[in-house]
Amino acid sequence: MSTNPKLTEKEISPTLAAGLYTQKQLSQEQFKKIATFMEKTTGIKMPDSKRTMIQSRLANRLKVLHFNDYAQYIDYVFSSSDRANEEIVMMIDLLTTNLTHFFREKPHFDFMTATVLPHLAECEIKCPAIWSAGCSSGEEPYTLSIVMKEFMAAHRGVFTDYSILATDISSRILSKAVEGLYPLESVDKLPYDIKHKYFLKSKNPDKPYAKVKNEVRQKIQFDRLNFMDSSFNIRPKKNIIFCRNVLIYFDKPTQLDVIRKLVDCLEVGGFLFLGHSETIFGSDLPIKTVSTTVFQKIKES
Ligand SMILES: C[S@@+](CC[C@H](N)C(=O)[O-])C[C@H]1O[C@@H](n2cnc3c(N)ncnc32)[C@H](O)[C@@H]1O
Repeated sequence: MSTNPKLTEKEISPTLAAGLYTQKQLSQEQFKKIATFMEKTTGIKMPDSKRTMIQSRLANRLKVLHFNDYAQYIDYVFSSSDRANEEIVMMIDLLTTNLTHFFREKPHFDFMTATVLPHLAECEIKCPAIWSAGCSSGEEPYTLSIVMKEFMAAHRGVFTDYSILATDISSRILSKAVEGLYPLESVDKLPYDIKHKYFLKSKNPDKPYAKVKNEVRQKIQFDRLNFMDSSFNIRPKKNIIFCRNVLIYFDKPTQLDVIRKLVDCLEVGGFLFLGHSETIFGSDLPIKTVSTTVFQKIKES
């Protein structure tokens, strides 16, 4: 619908005003199209309650692409052209939730230091292989790297090295993770010695940030991975997998399917950490619970 820029809202009829207003609304049908696509492609559930969230997160794309309404945006994004494929990546980026922070759910890192790493050392694993699956902007894999450094400094010679794979579906969030730059507030609450040892503070007072030191970053390889892929094929298998605060966005069958694929990438004797509100129900997976939302693989799957 074309609009007359000379008319103010008061001057136009209520029907026309309503038309202009609804033009920028995501209709139920349009919402369903996006929600169904997102659920199929990423596993993320999009119930009706997410309609406003989707509308507001995509609003800026309409502006940037000079579209008048969501109908135009939907035609574009699902048009199967090369540019549409790029826009799909952008849309997935915008519609995923990336909340995270350093040492999130700290008891997991305490358990890793007190129980998991000594156990791996006893099993004579020299170079633990770790995977942060659904790593968001990097705080989780960087925390894991710091935990490894702290453990190795306290127990010299136990491990020779370690490696961390960090994956996410969102390319935008992965580039932030690779950068390793964070607002100062995000490291505020970390103990002084951790901040001092593992972060650099920018000297520019107009652009204050904390930068993760190279020694922490260089152990991490960042990659894009979608949990909906039929198989993850991550080899060699890992000794520790963190997959936290991701499964909550999936329905139960999808959760179980993802956990099955994760367990397949875990060494026997290795550990799987889920988020504190995530559980594994009635499965025949070869794992046992060893702590709150921490599981150990007991035999080959
Ligand atoms: C809330 S963050 C959790 C970050 C971190 N694990 C933590 O616990 O702090 C969830 C992450 O999962 C990612 N994600 C969502 N669906 C995904 C999928 N299908 N495949 C891979 N990553 C996905 C999102 O992009 C987001 O960065």
